[in-house]
Amino acid sequence: MSVHSSDTPLSIHDLRSYKQRGERFAMLTAYDYLTAQVLDEAGVPVLLVGDSLGMVVLGYDSTVPVTVDEMLHHTRAVRRGARRAVVVGDMPFMSYQRCVEDGMANAGRFLKEGGATAVKLEGAGPVVELTARLTAAGIPVMGHLGLTPQRVHQVGGYKVQGRATDDADRTVDDAVSLAQAGAFAIVLEAVPADLGRRVTAAVDVPTVGIGAGPHTDGQVLVVSDLLGLTGGRLPRFVKPYADLRGVITDAAKAFTAEVASGDYPGPEHSY
Ligand code: KIV
Repeated sequence: MSVHSSDTPLSIHDLRSYKQRGERFAMLTAYDYLTAQVLDEAGVPVLLVGDSLGMVVLGYDSTVPVTVDEMLHHTRAVRRGARRAVVVGDMPFMSYQRCVEDGMANAGRFLKEGGATAVKLEGAGPVVELTARLTAAGIPVMGHLGLTPQRVHQVGGYKVQGRATDDADRTVDDAVSLAQAGAFAIVLEAVPADLGRRVTAAVDVPTVGIGAGPHTDGQVLVVSDLLGLTGGRLPRFVKPYADLRGVITDAAKAFTAEVASGDYPGPEHSY
């Protein structure tokens, strides 16, 4: 993980330098002020206000229902908590798919109202043209290829992508097109490790993998997965680095028990 020590805010150009120097870097999702503050102070260089917010924070069963206003609310909170990290706002489903004008207007809101440094868009095709327009307008774009969860109903589930040779070749071509259009980085989700390697070699902008193997320039995880807060079955690529679900459960049980027994509050907690 790349940890920066200076107080200078990072920019998208630092990420390109990481790639040029062969330095791998971390990206984590963040959805609120306090978590953003902790992650920023820990030296995480990129915070993604992912539309995974819909599932992780709001309890939706996919990212499809997430709105621009919900994303902006949380992007502002993360921006207030992050002093140095690059903050990327994830553009939600149907905020950029209808037409380039919609995409331009909504992306502008992420920078103007949300305080984001950049936006993230899923897919290629028409998104390539939008990426070029946004970049020309001064709005940095992070691409997202492989598994694109906003298309879950089209794809028929959360499945590994790019296993067939033609799918893999198309993903490499799409990454090259996005990079040529000006994307400053590309997320690669749920693809075979060899495709992660191929895409990373094909583009001079950094790739950030999630379930894309060890060869990408950066790695991203959803923060609640990283912290062991997410319940249920986790995807194979998730490595929990803590057991916050256990910690919170124990703390809540201890508090409940001490309130019931009268042990809390003690004299030291009373005025
Ligand atoms: O919304 C999100 O959290 C994401 C990451 C999984 C990359 O897009």
